[in-house]
Amino acid sequence: MLFFATFASKGRIVERERKMPDKKEKYLQLIASLRSLTEGEPDAIANMANVAAAIKETFGFFWVGFYIVKGNQLVLGPFQGPMACTRIAYGKGVCGTAWKERKTLIVPDVDAFPGHIACSRFSRSEIVVPVMNGNEVGAVLDIDSERLNAFDETDAYYLEKIAELIHPSLFDRGNFDS
Ligand code: SME
Repeated sequence: MLFFATFASKGRIVERERKMPDKKEKYLQLIASLRSLTEGEPDAIANMANVAAAIKETFGFFWVGFYIVKGNQLVLGPFQGPMACTRIAYGKGVCGTAWKERKTLIVPDVDAFPGHIACSRFSRSEIVVPVMNGNEVGAVLDIDSERLNAFDETDAYYLEKIAELIHPSLFDRGNFDS
C-alpha cells in the first residue's frame, strides 16, 4: 500500500515536470509569438516595448529593457521593472562594455564586474545583448536578475535571436536621431 502511494506520488511529480516547459522550450514559444508581433512592424520603440514585456512575463526577471545608442551614449528605452539609470557612456558599465566589445556579456555576479553600474541594489546577475547591424550596435537588451548566476549560454543564444527581431525596425527605418 505504502509502495503504491509512493509510486503514485512519484508519477504525479514526473507528470508535472514533463508538462512544465524548460527554458529552451519557453524561448522557442516566446520567439514564435514575438516574431509574428514584430514582423512588418516598422516602429522600433513599439517592438522593443513588446519584447521587454514578453521576456519579463515569460521569465519573471527583475528588470528587462533596452538602451538605445544615441551619439556617444546609451539612452534608456522601453523597459519593464523599477526605474533605471537614464544614460550610460560608451565603454562604461556592463551595457557600455557590451556596446564597445560588440558582443553578449554574461555577468554571473555583478559585484565582480569592474565598473558595473548599480541601478538597483537588488540586481545580482546580468546579461547584455547588443542589437547589431553588421558591426554597428544600435541598442542593447539588458536583463537583470535578483539571483546570482541566473544566465547561461542558452539565454545568450536565444536572446541574440530575439535581438535580431528588433534589428530591422531599428536599422532600416531611421527611427532615431542622436
Ligand atoms: N547594470 C547596468 C546598468 C543598467 S541597469 O542594470 C538597468 C550596467 O552596468 O551597464
